[in-house]
Amino acid sequence: MLKLPGLIDPHVHLREPGATHKEDFDSGTSAALAGGFTTVLAMPNTNPPIFDEATLNLALDAAKQKARCDYGQFVGAGPNNADGIAALAPRAAGLKMYLDSTFGELRLDNMILWMPHFANWPKSAALVVHAESRTLAAAILFAEIYDRPIHIAHVSLKEEILVIKAAKERGIKVTCEVAPHHLFLTDSPLPAGEGPGVRAKSGRSEVRPRLATQADVDSLWANLNVIDCFATDHAPHTLAEKDFENPPPGFPGLETALPLLLTAVHERRLTLDDLIKKMHTNPKRIFNLPDQPETWVEVDEDATYEIRAAEQFTRCGWTPFEGWQVHGRVRKVVLRGQVAFEDGKVLAEKGLGRNVRG
Ligand code: NCD
Ligand code: ZN
Repeated sequence: MLKLPGLIDPHVHLREPGATHKEDFDSGTSAALAGGFTTVLAMPNTNPPIFDEATLNLALDAAKQKARCDYGQFVGAGPNNADGIAALAPRAAGLKMYLDSTFGELRLDNMILWMPHFANWPKSAALVVHAESRTLAAAILFAEIYDRPIHIAHVSLKEEILVIKAAKERGIKVTCEVAPHHLFLTDSPLPAGEGPGVRAKSGRSEVRPRLATQADVDSLWANLNVIDCFATDHAPHTLAEKDFENPPPGFPGLETALPLLLTAVHERRLTLDDLIKKMHTNPKRIFNLPDQPETWVEVDEDATYEIRAAEQFTRCGWTPFEGWQVHGRVRKVVLRGQVAFEDGKVLAEKGLGRNVRG
C-alpha cells in the first residue's frame, strides 16, 4: 500500500452557481475525494461569474454547506472590476484572468484591460492566466513589466512549454500547470470503433485548449522539469450536451488524473517523487495553502483496472478515458483524521470541507 499526501487540484470547474445539473460542490468534491484530492480550487466562470463580493459570497456559501473536501474559490478579472476585486484577495484562491477567447463577462479583449488587474492584484496572491500561444508570451511580458509572479493554466503546446522554459531561465516569476488530457491524448484520437478512448471529431473531443499534436505531447513529457503542477481542468458537461450540436468544450478529470499518472509512474515515464511535487508540494506553495494535519491517501499500487464512467461520482456521466487500463487504485482518503473515502464509497459528510482561506 502506497501512502500519498492529500492531493491538490488547483483548477476545477464545479459549476455552482448556475449549472448544478453538470456538477456542484457536493458531487464535485465527492469526485475529488474518489480521485485522491483533498483540496480543489474552483474557477469563477460560473453563472453568474464570481467577480465581486456578492457573487463570491454566493459560491462560498454553497461550498460551506456542501463541500466534502477542502476548497478555495477563484475570483475572475472582468473588464470593469479591477478597482474592487483586489480587496477580495484574502478570501480568494487567486485571480483568474481569461486573456484568450472565452464566453461571458470575464473576457478581457485587449491589453489595456489587463493593466489595472496586474497593477492592483496583490503580488503575494496567486494570479492565474488562461493564455495560449502568443498570448502566453504577452502574459509573461506583463509578469516582467509588473514584476510579479503569474501562473499559466493548462499548457498544451510545444511552443508554450519552450517559452516558459526560456522565461524561467531568465528568472521571470512564472509557474505553470498541465492537464492529464494534454499528456495522454492527441488531436487524432482513436477513430470510432477502434477500442477505448475519446472519438475523433465528436463533441466529446471538444476541449479548451484543444487536444494537440503528438509532437506537442512529446515535448510536454520531454520538459516535465518545466511543469510545476498537474491540474485536471475538470470541466464537466453532460453527455446530452456533449453529443448534441455545438458541444461545450471540457473534459471531466478529477477521478482519472491520479490513476493515469500512477500508470505513468508504473511505466517509468514519471517518478513518484515528481508526482507528489506536482500534485501536492508545488500547488501548496504556489497557491499558499494551509497544512492539512492527519491527512493522507492510500493507494493500492498493484491494482489494475479499467476506467468506467459508471463508477464515477462526477455528475457528467462520461470520461474521455472510458475503457483505459490503469495501474493504481485509491483505496482510502483520510482528511483531518476522518475517513473521507474508502473502497469506492464517499464517507465524508457534506460540510466537512473547509475553505482554504477560512
Ligand atoms: C471550460 C469550462 O467548461 O468551464 N472548458 C474547457 O474546455 N476547459 C471553459 C474554458 O476554458 O473555456
Ligand atoms: Zn478551466
